[in-house]
Amino acid sequence: MKHDTEIRDEHPQPQSLLSDHQDVSENRVTKVWEDAWQALDGLPDTGGVNIAHETVVRHAQSGRRNQLALRCLDRNGHIEDFSYARLDQRSNRFANLLCHLGVAPGERVFCVLGRVPDLFVAALGCWKNRSVFCALFAAFGPEPLRTRLEIGQARVLVTTAQIYQRKIASQRDQLPGLDFVLITGDDTPPEGTLSLNTLMDDANDCFTIEPTDAQEIALIHFTSGTTGRPKGALHAHAAVVAHRSTAQLALDLQPGDVYWCTADPGWVTGISYGLIAPLALGACIILDEGDFDVQRWYRVLQDQGVNVWYTAPTALRMMMKYGIEVARGYDLTALRFIASVGEPLHKEAVVWSEAAFGRVVHDTWWQTETGAIMIANYRGLKLRPGSMGQPLPGIEAALFQLGPEGGLQPVQAANARGQLALRSGWPSQFRGYINEDARYHACFAGDWYLSGDLARRDDAGYYWFIGRADDVIKSAGHLIGPFEVEQTLMAHPAVLEAGVVGMPDPIVGETVKAFVVLKPGFMLDSTLNRELMAHARKHLGPAVAPRAIEARDDLPKTRSGKIMRRVLRARELGLPEGDVSTILSGPLDSDSN
Ligand code: WT7
Repeated sequence: MKHDTEIRDEHPQPQSLLSDHQDVSENRVTKVWEDAWQALDGLPDTGGVNIAHETVVRHAQSGRRNQLALRCLDRNGHIEDFSYARLDQRSNRFANLLCHLGVAPGERVFCVLGRVPDLFVAALGCWKNRSVFCALFAAFGPEPLRTRLEIGQARVLVTTAQIYQRKIASQRDQLPGLDFVLITGDDTPPEGTLSLNTLMDDANDCFTIEPTDAQEIALIHFTSGTTGRPKGALHAHAAVVAHRSTAQLALDLQPGDVYWCTADPGWVTGISYGLIAPLALGACIILDEGDFDVQRWYRVLQDQGVNVWYTAPTALRMMMKYGIEVARGYDLTALRFIASVGEPLHKEAVVWSEAAFGRVVHDTWWQTETGAIMIANYRGLKLRPGSMGQPLPGIEAALFQLGPEGGLQPVQAANARGQLALRSGWPSQFRGYINEDARYHACFAGDWYLSGDLARRDDAGYYWFIGRADDVIKSAGHLIGPFEVEQTLMAHPAVLEAGVVGMPDPIVGETVKAFVVLKPGFMLDSTLNRELMAHARKHLGPAVAPRAIEARDDLPKTRSGKIMRRVLRARELGLPEGDVSTILSGPLDSDSN
């Protein structure tokens, strides 16, 4: 940990949120973001901010033109490289083809693809056309895909012939707004779809971005709540301000760095820090199509000479499981900075990483809604292993508890616990949930955004993760809404009721477990168990489907009939039933979430 402790703190943090300090911190906050805005290029002549301009156009028109922007490794080890100029031209073609199809600014373009360059080209081209981009996790089953395409009102979908035929085609009539499906690769496009390659070949590779207001919506990221449908969080072009500046500080990312973010673009990290931040900073992205494999990952780190690596605690735990000897077989000297996100990073992983990679791992905390890193063991801050770190300069955090009169109040004392909240106003803050105003407003207490996470702040101002205040499940870094899983199980003819909870797991954090009450005449023998598992996997996809299903005679419910998942979970784990739910209740515990 020498590396970290020796660096001086260049960005001292304000000590508290007391009102007599507020003027000072507000000025400071404003100054931090003013500087971050200044670092952007801005659209020529017309002004305004467009993510595609800040990430590719500005570099393609500068000395960085021929620098590597993106290196894609396919499953078979084949490499495809894109310079900034090539990425610019390819995305110009995509923007032109959208124009040609009559796709207007503000309309939604979705991708259901793996970690492939077409997805990046589509995202950039989409922003150039001022349309709104959304990538969905390709391992989702037909249900989660349809729900999200519906909520997001997708007009265009870019996907593979296989995914289309397996998961979308049969539901196409339920998606009347989906006018164009563009099929990647050389497969003959199935009926009702178009070939992306043909359209790209026919499109012009010059494009001028129209004036773009920084507050225009650029992105949708779906996230899961306790109840109801998934939430489509909206983000503006302005978010690039935060992506760029937070990556500099919390990931130590610099121009020319070889950078690998292992998150899938189907999740917010894979877009904010897998695509936008590194290009905005003029770095070179490594995009690996392959799935997690310990040896392969070490090889990528070594062979590509990765300087900055942003990954997930789950992956680190899997690497730890294989032992430090495996790491010693590789030359990882190019690695300069490692960070992780998505789940608690335990102290042992930080210590192990230093021994295995020669570098500690820096924990970072944020959410789909925050759009960018908010709290981190950032560059220059003395690292406290096991903690999430401190709020980044420009970010004000606080812990809220229920006061004696009911309302939420910030707690100041060292080691106090509460719900983690952030003062509204940072550039990458979400602008709403699609068609869900009530759920959006339930996230705020005055001008504080309530995260739904419980945390503790120590005497030096470092934040420590405690858990979630709601029932959302976190498995392998992905948020899973129990409601979505319960609905799917209840669609099976044998299931009367279902309650879905997360069970602790040493590697993936939590696994999804379902408890079902069966309809009269059914018994959960191994045949029905297999059938229910297959049903869940078919509709939800393997990433969301439960790992285990058990039958119960009844499920614990509130008087209004809501399943008490925390009680279910506590019973299962032999915990006191009140244990988890009494820590804090607040707006996020309400039905609207
Ligand atoms: C939830 C947000 C934004 C990154 C990808 C996930 C959990 C995130 C940490 C961390 C402990 C963490 C929280 C948060 N989480 N980072 N460093 N330590 N927990 O985005 O899917 O919106 O999930 O992930 O519970 O609320 P997301």
